[in-house]
Amino acid sequence: MDFVEQLKSSIDIVKVAGEYVRLKRVGATGRYVGLCPFHQEKTPSFSVNQTRQFYKCFGCGVGGDAIKFVEEIEGLSFWETVKMLAERYGVPMPKRSDYSDAESKLRGALMDMHAIAARLFQDNLRGPQGAEARAYLEKRGVSQEVIDTFEIGYAEPSGQALTRKLSDRIFSVEQLEASGLVRKRNEGTGYYDNFRGRLMFPIHNESGKAIAFGGRAMNDEDQPKYLNSPETPVYKKTSVLYNLHRARDAVRRSGRVVLVEGYMDVIGVYAAGVKEVVASCGTALTNGQVRTLHRHADTVVVNFDPDTAGANATEKAIQLLLDEGLHVRVVALDGGLDPDEYCKRNGAEAYVAKLDGAATYFHWLADRARTRFDMKTSEGKVAAFKFLLPAVQKISNKLEQAATVNDLASYLGVDPGLVLDQFKKSAADRRAPVPQAKPASAIPPMERILLNALLASDRARTDMLPALLPELTDTFVTREVFEGLRQVAGAGDAFSYSVLEGRLQGPGKELLRDAVTADESTGGSVSWEQAQACLRRLESDFRKRQLGELRTRVKSAEREGRVEEALSWMAELSRLERESRGTSGG
Ligand code: UTP
Ligand code: MN
Repeated sequence: MDFVEQLKSSIDIVKVAGEYVRLKRVGATGRYVGLCPFHQEKTPSFSVNQTRQFYKCFGCGVGGDAIKFVEEIEGLSFWETVKMLAERYGVPMPKRSDYSDAESKLRGALMDMHAIAARLFQDNLRGPQGAEARAYLEKRGVSQEVIDTFEIGYAEPSGQALTRKLSDRIFSVEQLEASGLVRKRNEGTGYYDNFRGRLMFPIHNESGKAIAFGGRAMNDEDQPKYLNSPETPVYKKTSVLYNLHRARDAVRRSGRVVLVEGYMDVIGVYAAGVKEVVASCGTALTNGQVRTLHRHADTVVVNFDPDTAGANATEKAIQLLLDEGLHVRVVALDGGLDPDEYCKRNGAEAYVAKLDGAATYFHWLADRARTRFDMKTSEGKVAAFKFLLPAVQKISNKLEQAATVNDLASYLGVDPGLVLDQFKKSAADRRAPVPQAKPASAIPPMERILLNALLASDRARTDMLPALLPELTDTFVTREVFEGLRQVAGAGDAFSYSVLEGRLQGPGKELLRDAVTADESTGGSVSWEQAQACLRRLESDFRKRQLGELRTRVKSAEREGRVEEALSWMAELSRLERESRGTSGG
């Protein structure tokens, strides 16, 4: 068995995909469904088949095996994915360096460099150079345990140490420059460290590998306050969330994710025991990050800083989160405190109470409208109404929407009928959404049943496959798959789903997945009797077609006076008729 086959047989796609997507088991057939991570959707059309080890989305049509899934979701090459999965699931990999193309090699080098840098920064913080930084952390109430958990480090001020360390190794100049960890000198030659004299917070990808840093200045004079890594081939700012790899399990368990603004907020909140906390890193929240959140939770509790910038960011975040169909709650902490300060000042319990009691975004927006507009005048009320309307329109659940419209009316102190009218009017103005679901290819039931029977049992393959002559399957939508089955049998290979899949081209692979998935959704497996009945039916249809053809030939030969020919067709015809009576009787 080659290594890829071996890897595939030692991992479970439900576990692999389940790390990135919340999957729910449906029925007892090893089928799981969830929200597709590859397109935007609010109801699950992403299906994972445990028995056959593949995924398929009925919405956008993507599909494949566990390796393909990770390739797509992590944006890795095939061999990078194989390597990563082998590492993650402890499958020893044969040593071969020619597995990687130039780009994968670069990404691999960047990851190695970040691991080296993270270790160096941590060592610095522990060593004599780290005294000031340690004192700073202590002053801010960051314990040793938290320092270790978040792998916080310190970049020493000389600007030499990391550059030297990385140049010692085998990294090329191109790799050094691509890393964002070093800079080229303006004058003279050589490089120096990008991060100098800063507290270092490693940023990890979802697999827990360091891919970037945020570096905090320790004095107000040093600007910027935070220096962040640039985008690199391993760091896509728009989809990475700080702390997601640590928060993931707690997010799944609690069903919510707490979204804060800063690295220090994440750290403070996490240290207070609320582990389901993440932040965007040095940028405003993006659609990509929101989609990432949705893979793990349905509810987002937004807890940004209590200043104007934080409030504006909250407003934008609410819209993005609603667009993605998430439930949104907003926490407003009293005393003008940010989450980190609040936890330190009032303790974990008080903070958890704030989170649990967080009102829906609508109340937060309403409060904001109240301070913004003069609610005593009718112009003020209209303005407040217009301010709140977009958020109401984003509620996809009609009942929830109607309830909110009522809330809105009583909050504004106006007649609910009036609000409803306005609301309907603007709803009619909105353009209709354009759903673009790709229909699953239609595989006739007969083909589906036969295929699933052949996939499911050795007996079907030994008994039925030889009976399924190419003439019978030539007109099938899924003829490629049947041809693949014959090839596997002919080659004498032990049968497995992935061996068959391996023999098929892209469209054939898709047909195979469609056939299997369609079977699951109609429920249960195919019985031997059903399959036999299908086969008999196919054969009798085929024979009928053959007989029909022969009769036509006999007739036209007679008509045209070709007696001998007519006689020979008639002999053939009666032979077939005898045969078919023989089989259909038994
Ligand atoms: P804050 O200034 O609130 O930082 O910026 P903080 O993480 O809460 O840290 P402390 O408590 O003040 O020490 C929030 C986030 O905005 C980004 C960082 O991601 C930061 O965590 N930011 C801020 C930057 O990227 N650059 C900056 O210069 C400032
Ligand atoms: Mn802050």
